[in-house]
Amino acid sequence: MNDEAPCLLDAVHIPIQDYADVAEAGRNALLFAEACGFSKVLAYYIATAVIELGNNIMAHADSDGSIVLTSQFEDTRIVIEIIAEDRGPGIFDVDLALTDGYTTNNGLGCGLPGVARLMDELHIETSDQGTRIRARKRR
Ligand SMILES: Nc1ncnc2c1ncn2[C@@H]1O[C@H](COP(=O)(O)OP(=O)(O)O)[C@@H](O)[C@H]1O
Ligand SMILES: [Mg+2]
Repeated sequence: MNDEAPCLLDAVHIPIQDYADVAEAGRNALLFAEACGFSKVLAYYIATAVIELGNNIMAHADSDGSIVLTSQFEDTRIVIEIIAEDRGPGIFDVDLALTDGYTTNNGLGCGLPGVARLMDELHIETSDQGTRIRARKRR
């Protein structure tokens, strides 16, 4: 089998409307990353990032959003991209939201900074119409 085959996986789309969906998204992410040839450790990094982004849709974005997982080639490396999207009220201050311990909801405030550490890239677009977070990890 050639090395590139695993990357032909279809995108996975998971609507997030309750915490069971978040758990399902995490399980999907683990399987998706392993199918793309990521090590177990990296697959758990990606699954953990998905769970944190899903928990944030539940806790901060009116429990209404989605997570999409895609894989693509970047030169010779496989990249997994997570896109977490919602139509919640938006992130009030992105720099603060990326600071350890900052929470507006009695959380631990470690979710977004954790995602930043677990993934290679994190891009946040947010307004009062909602939030779109793109997080990428290379194999
Ligand atoms: N999807 C989102 N929509 C609106 N605000 C968000 C979203 N995700 C994160 N935030 C804001 O960023 C803060 C930090 O998020 P996080 O680090 O996951 O901590 P926690 O979820 O424990 O509060 C949240 O308290 C919230 O104010
Ligand atoms: Mg959180």
